[in-house]
Amino acid sequence: MDNIASNNGAVKEHRSRVDAEAGFEDLRYLSGFGNHFASEALKGALPDSQNSPLKCPYGLYAEQISGTAFTAPRKANQRSWFYRIKPSVTHEPFYPRQPLHEHLVGDFSNEKGCVTTPTQLRWKPVDISKARTDFIDGLFTICGAGSCFVRHGYAIHMYAANASMEDSAFANADGDFLIVPQQGRLWIKTEFGRLQVSPGEIVVLQLGFRYSIDLPDGPSRGYVLEVFSGHFQLPDLGPIGANGLALPHDFLTPVAWYEGGVYSGFKVVQKFGGALFEAKQNFSPFNVVAWRGNYAPFKYDLRKFCPFNAVLFDHGDPSINTVLTVPSERPGIAVVDFVIFPPRWLVSEHTFRPPYFHRNCMSEFMGLIYGLYEGKAEGFLPGGASLHSCMTPHGVDTLTYEKTVAAGDDLKPFRISGDSLAFMFESSLTPKITHWAFNSPHIDPDYYKCWIKLRSHFDQGTATVENDEN
Ligand SMILES: [Fe+2]
Repeated sequence: MDNIASNNGAVKEHRSRVDAEAGFEDLRYLSGFGNHFASEALKGALPDSQNSPLKCPYGLYAEQISGTAFTAPRKANQRSWFYRIKPSVTHEPFYPRQPLHEHLVGDFSNEKGCVTTPTQLRWKPVDISKARTDFIDGLFTICGAGSCFVRHGYAIHMYAANASMEDSAFANADGDFLIVPQQGRLWIKTEFGRLQVSPGEIVVLQLGFRYSIDLPDGPSRGYVLEVFSGHFQLPDLGPIGANGLALPHDFLTPVAWYEGGVYSGFKVVQKFGGALFEAKQNFSPFNVVAWRGNYAPFKYDLRKFCPFNAVLFDHGDPSINTVLTVPSERPGIAVVDFVIFPPRWLVSEHTFRPPYFHRNCMSEFMGLIYGLYEGKAEGFLPGGASLHSCMTPHGVDTLTYEKTVAAGDDLKPFRISGDSLAFMFESSLTPKITHWAFNSPHIDPDYYKCWIKLRSHFDQGTATVENDEN
């Protein structure tokens, strides 16, 4: 594919790329979670019987990408083999990308530039700039813990962008990205093939993969969970049994697709240690004609989630809606969980059905993809966010509490609308907050007021006080 060069305005340029990339809506995918896949865009491009033959079919290069240490246990070991036109190593040296990106953090062990607070925080949706901004430039870190240097912890970012990445690919040497688009589709070219990801879906792009993100709908916004500690996996189901929650066959991985030829001036932007570096090469990194392995990107439609919950009284903890998890070395304790609050029936009797008042040793970051979250009658908007850190009290707002209690015990089955979808990034590691997020004009200084009017309903009546030694 020849270089797509254009000095025209963003809109015209955007259209030309849409034309060039038509077909994202009709893509085929491979189904399954954690499978050992194989895909070839040219028949016979995968070598028989071995990974690294002296000469590969069609004169391709063999290249392995290892997502885990060579010696990781077999059940955890992740790697894939590419068969590509030119190997990734064929590039000029990396230099710090200019201008420097000022709003990314990869090391939270350094106090500088971050703040801590136990206060409940909430942000309104950010505005999307009118100036040309692609996915990389549109990223900004909200909070996180740990450090990409010691490969432990996580960062939560958001993005607000309006333009497709041009003649460039992004690669992340710090962690896996789980992207939750909230507005606008993502058309993603990867070394493994192409994906279309719409609001309501998520995509996981693991450590090291090179990818380019186009924004076919123009102004776009979303959330990103970056994990330094390992890779996402499906949660164990325990007594639920073999079926339920996110079903393995609903995870979709791209099929091989490539673009060859000279592509002068192509830039690979590598996030490394929280900073961005750039190297030039004269070909597209999306030149993989065939690949096989179990280390590959995937997407998932959150509307396919099969929720479980209490069916008589009370309700389960939010962990019952875990889609994906990155476990820590401590049993049952996650570095991060990705949890959703999907459409579902609430049927519990004599139960306060909305989320309970809560303090948690885990820290909870929430976002809203669309609709209205069941725990907040107002103020928590699609594209907005909230953060309730370790042991910070939180719960439904005053209006929701009063309405629920006023409805009394005569509760009928109630379906949470299919038009709403909220999610949570939950972590055992307490986050620090970037100063630009903490001082953002979009932060809601009145968030605390949603609870401040909760009044006492306590009425001792004629009850005798027990354990009164006076
Ligand atoms: Fe909570």
